[in-house]
Amino acid sequence: MTGETDHKLRGDYSRMRPDYTVDQDWDAYKPAEHELWRRLYARQLSLVPKYASEEFNATLATLDYGKGIPRFDVINAKLGPATGWQLVAVPGLLPDLTFFEHLAHRQFPVTVWIRTPEEFDYIVEPDIFHDFFGHVPLLFDPMFADYIQAYGRGGVKAHALGAIEMLARLYWYTVEFGLIETPRGLRAYGAGILSSGGEISYCIESPNPNRIGFDLLRIMQTGYKIDTYQETYFVIHDFSQLFEATAPDFAPYYDQLRGREPHAPSVVLATDKVYHRGLAPARAA
Ligand code: PHE
Ligand code: CO
Repeated sequence: MTGETDHKLRGDYSRMRPDYTVDQDWDAYKPAEHELWRRLYARQLSLVPKYASEEFNATLATLDYGKGIPRFDVINAKLGPATGWQLVAVPGLLPDLTFFEHLAHRQFPVTVWIRTPEEFDYIVEPDIFHDFFGHVPLLFDPMFADYIQAYGRGGVKAHALGAIEMLARLYWYTVEFGLIETPRGLRAYGAGILSSGGEISYCIESPNPNRIGFDLLRIMQTGYKIDTYQETYFVIHDFSQLFEATAPDFAPYYDQLRGREPHAPSVVLATDKVYHRGLAPARAA
């Protein structure tokens, strides 16, 4: 994800290449880190059948990465033939333009370090568990894989147009915290939800947050919080809706929205398609 952060970044940026990639150095992971991975994985595995989108669950079942921290080269051997994507190892959050350029080239940056045991339930900054468990399965979905690449290309453009903040909100409310309508009710496809032990049920079952129909321009002018559960989730019908809504040239949208005061994350507008109106602001577990 892009970094709307102002705290000091974790991760070792001293040995990276100019494109911010590093070697995964899988042999350097300690037994306790593999053990933490297994615990995180087992917990999420017990939750995704009920709360995750079908596309996510279908792929997860074909991947075998519950035994310990996965090797990127092993996954890449499957991912390449499936959708042409490759994982690249990175020290942590990247500068916006670097991040966009990787996505535009169908390279998904995955953080190499894992959280501490104290962060089992909640972490603000993306670690390998978030990046891998949350993002990788949907890179196997052809439509979603194309969406992420289009987003990366759009990011390079937005960077030149000074519109990254608007575009980052779209990433946040779709790739990270998106919900999708299914015959079995709302499900999560956003990676920030899928890798979270608490938010995965919260986003579907809690009466507190708003659940509102996807609306591109509305999302691009809605702020977000990075350190609590979300106060609003946006719901898509399917991935083709996402892909089609984002296909037009955004330059006129940026011109239209530039300089406007963003909506607060908790606000419900008269024009919103409301699935559920939230009762209370979000609070992290
Ligand atoms: N169509 C967008 C543009 O012209 C690019 C984009 C695609 C952005 C998909 C986000 C997601 O800028
Ligand atoms: Co992410």
